[in-house]
Amino acid sequence: MNADTKKTVNPLEQPLKGVIEMPPDKSVSHRAAIFGALVKEPVLINNFSAGADCKSTLSVLEQLGVEVSSRSGKILVISNKNGFKQPYNVLDAGNSGTTMRLMAGVLAGSNITCTITGDESLKKRPMSRIIKPLRLMGADIQAEDNNTKAPIGIKGSNLKGIIYNSPVASAQVKSCVLLAGLHAEGKTALSEPFKSRDHTERLLSYLGADIKTENNKVIIQKSGLSPEPISIPGDISSAAFFMVAASIVPGSEIVIRNVGLNPTRTGIIDVLRKMNAEMEILNKRTECNEEIGDIKVSHSDLKAIDIKKEMIPNIIDELPIIAIAATQAEGMTIVREAEELRHKESDRIKAICTELKKLGADIEEAVDGFVINGKSKLRGNCVLETYHDHRIAMSAYVAGLVSLKPVQINGFDWVNISFPGFTEVFGEISN
Ligand code: S3P
Repeated sequence: MNADTKKTVNPLEQPLKGVIEMPPDKSVSHRAAIFGALVKEPVLINNFSAGADCKSTLSVLEQLGVEVSSRSGKILVISNKNGFKQPYNVLDAGNSGTTMRLMAGVLAGSNITCTITGDESLKKRPMSRIIKPLRLMGADIQAEDNNTKAPIGIKGSNLKGIIYNSPVASAQVKSCVLLAGLHAEGKTALSEPFKSRDHTERLLSYLGADIKTENNKVIIQKSGLSPEPISIPGDISSAAFFMVAASIVPGSEIVIRNVGLNPTRTGIIDVLRKMNAEMEILNKRTECNEEIGDIKVSHSDLKAIDIKKEMIPNIIDELPIIAIAATQAEGMTIVREAEELRHKESDRIKAICTELKKLGADIEEAVDGFVINGKSKLRGNCVLETYHDHRIAMSAYVAGLVSLKPVQINGFDWVNISFPGFTEVFGEISN
C-alpha cells in the first residue's frame, strides 16, 4: 500500500440517492479460500474479494502449493489435490490478522514447517491469544517477543482436542482453534465470553464438517470437507459507511443490494436503528448458510446511544464509522469496555479521538473507549491521518462529506485492504 496517497474530500452539496452493491465480504472470502484448500477436490468460489487482505490469503496458500485459478473476475477455483507443500520462503500475511491467525490453526496440525509474518502493523498485534490454545493442543509453535508477536514459527505436528474457554470474544481466535480441531484427535470445544462472528461455523457445516454450536460454545471433531461451491455475500462492514452516510446527509435515500445479514454481523443495523435511523431490510434469503438481503436507508435525525459491552463483538469493525454517526447525533454517545479496538489494524480508539478532535468534534478518549457529545458541525479544513488502517480511511472520508470545508486524507490508499473502488461507489450515488 502506498502510504503517501493523499485524497481531498469535498463537502457534499446534494443528497445520496441510488442503488449500489458492496464488495464481497472479507471475512467470508478468507474462509472460503482457506477451507477450499482443505478439500481434496477443486472448490468453486463465486464473488471473491479483490481486497489486498484476501489477496494475502491467496498468496499464502499459493506459497503452500495450492492452485488458485481465476475464472472471469470474481470467480475462483481453489485446488489442493496433493496437500500442502513445504514453502520456499517465509509466508507473508501482509496486513491481514485473519490470514495469520486462521492459517496458524491450519498449519499447526499439518506436516509443514514454516514461518508466517506480516507487515509492520500486523507484527505489533497480539498473537499469544492463538499461541496459547494451540500449544495446549500440542502444537510446536513459537513467536517473537516471548511468544506474543509475529513472525510465528510453526512445525506441524499431531494435535489433540481441548476444551478451551477463550478470554476474548474473537472470531479469529475461535476460527484458529476450530481449524486446528478439524485435524486433531478427539473433540475440541471452544467457549467465548460473547458470541463473535460465526462464519467459520456456518461454512464448515455447509462443507460437511462435524461441528455444532450451543450458545457461545462450539464443538468440532476431526472431519473431511466436501467440495460444495461457495457463494460470498456483499460485505456489511463495507455497507456500514454507506448506511451512516445516507443517515446523516439530509434528503438521502439509498438501497444497498445483496449484503450479508449474518446475525453476528448486523449489530450496525441494530445500533443505527437505536439511534433512530430509518432502515428497511428487503428480499431476505439464505445462501450457503448465510443470510443475505437488500438494505434501504433514508436520512433521519439521529440521537445518541449508550453502547453496552455485549454489543461490542458484533460491531467491532464498525465502531470508527459509528463514531462519525455519533458526531451528528443529538446527545452523548458512550462507547466503553471496547479495549479490543486498541488491537486492530491501528489503535482505533486513539485514531478516532485524534482525528475527530481535528475536525472540531466534542470527543473524549477513555482507556477502553470514548464519549462523543453531539451534534456538532465538523469544521473540515484540516489534514486527517489513516494510521495504515482501511476503516479509519473510509470513516475519515464520510466525515469529510459532512464537514463544512474540504479535508485532506493522507494514506487514503489503505481503503484497498477491504474496498478497492470505495470512492467510485460513492460517485454512483452522489450525482
Ligand atoms: C475477523 C474478526 C474480527 C474482525 C476482523 C475480521 C474475522 O477480529 O475485527 O476484521 O474475519 O474473523 P477479531 O476476531 O480479532 O475480533
